[in-house]
Amino acid sequence: MSDLRDSVQAAFGAMGLDLPASKGGFEARSPIDGKVIHCFEQTSTRHLERSLQSAVIAQMTWQSVPAPVRGELVRRFGLMLREHKASLGRLVSIETGKILSEGLGEVQEMIDMADFAVGQSRQLHGLTIASERPGHAMRETWHPLGPVLIISAFNFPVAVWAWNACLALVCGNSIIWKPSEKAILSAYAVHSLLERAIGECDFVPEGIAGLAIGDARVGTRLVEDRRIALVSATGSSEMGRKVAASVSARFGRSLLELGGNNAAIVAPSADVDLAVRAILFAAVGTAGQRCTSLRRLIVHDGIYDDVVGRLKELYARLAVGNPFDPANLVGPLIDRDAYERMRAALTEAASFRGRIHGGERIHTEHEGAYYVRPALVEMPSAKGPMTRETFAPILYVVRYFDLPEAIAIQNASEHGLSSAIFSTDIRDAEYFLGPLGSDCGIANVNIGTSGAEIGGAFGGEKASGGGRESGSDAWRGYMRRQTATINYSEALPLAQGVTFEL
Ligand code: UN1
Repeated sequence: MSDLRDSVQAAFGAMGLDLPASKGGFEARSPIDGKVIHCFEQTSTRHLERSLQSAVIAQMTWQSVPAPVRGELVRRFGLMLREHKASLGRLVSIETGKILSEGLGEVQEMIDMADFAVGQSRQLHGLTIASERPGHAMRETWHPLGPVLIISAFNFPVAVWAWNACLALVCGNSIIWKPSEKAILSAYAVHSLLERAIGECDFVPEGIAGLAIGDARVGTRLVEDRRIALVSATGSSEMGRKVAASVSARFGRSLLELGGNNAAIVAPSADVDLAVRAILFAAVGTAGQRCTSLRRLIVHDGIYDDVVGRLKELYARLAVGNPFDPANLVGPLIDRDAYERMRAALTEAASFRGRIHGGERIHTEHEGAYYVRPALVEMPSAKGPMTRETFAPILYVVRYFDLPEAIAIQNASEHGLSSAIFSTDIRDAEYFLGPLGSDCGIANVNIGTSGAEIGGAFGGEKASGGGRESGSDAWRGYMRRQTATINYSEALPLAQGVTFEL
């Protein structure tokens, strides 16, 4: 058992939450020391069935509560997140190994999302449309969709759930959360706070928010269930492919946030000082375990030596270690599997004549913890492991000679999540953002690929899943659209001038 168990107890205590007795087959481990911090029981089939039934029943009541009143639940939940930001942030860091500043940032992302959703609860508006017929009106109305299943990943164990949950709730839906089996603790704490907020609001029906703990089998059972109107899933493209097939076979709706093999282009006019700092955060922040992490760097030949030289220097100075020590910018990888995948990718990169700087395991005194020095890999061409997403701090670098070539390298990926260009030339930047530019859902100028604000729609194209979550009009994904045509005249003209008279 880990010494971090006391910190977990303290965090739960500070939030006034009960941690259930530690028993069952699901071990929550901290990647900081690789040891068990708590055990959870898998949600039984009977309990899952009860959650599904409750979600359906709660939906019936919740969808007729006025949306701004539904917003009041999310407002109270947001206040609780504010109050317990420090404890939740610690918990996220203990469980994922991300540095404390990022653990706290993740909680802030939930708070921002709650605020956003509260505002949205007064803006679930549709269109009025000009009818071609006299005495007719047309309008679009958005109605609640039905129970929403949220499958979250270990790397953002609570924030990405909050993107979905806050919107799903104000849109009038019940929710069921299946967190990653690698990050149950913080999910459990956040779910408990939501339950507390629900308990404070007498207008909220019981059973509106469920939590399902277990492995992929639990996820599959829920995904296949016709009572779930929308499956919002975050994880690998492999997982997304299965979810999409299963949900579409029953004509359900899915919203997928999958992997990314994100690239940045460094153009000749780039502010190299700014660029290397942005690249560093995007490539090594969260130990390279964000879906938006920067994995491929495409640098103009004319500045290649300067950019790569400066990056090598920054990489050499990076402090890797315990995420609670503010000197460290990089914590551990989530587990042994992640480490092995990183090693395999680096071995393959070497076989493609990649020149590897860093990448070795350090702090081996913690047997079950996997700390690595982030790797910078100079590749002769964008081949081999550079064409795939490896969820680890590996940054592959290649040279380019003209911008269309750089964009072609970038877009050759099967993924299409996030992208960036570093340039002070308006022609480069606008070309990159134009129709012949980046094919990704996210395209940035002079900032890295990761660290998006919640106000924009978040998501990517191709194997990144096609879904859009959090800001902008992502709320529409959680509602069903109804087009209504109202005849307030005494005549019955038909559309398209069709006549049909007896
Ligand atoms: C993810 O890694 O699944 O833009 C989400 C970012 C964060 C979200 C990442 N706001 O990097």
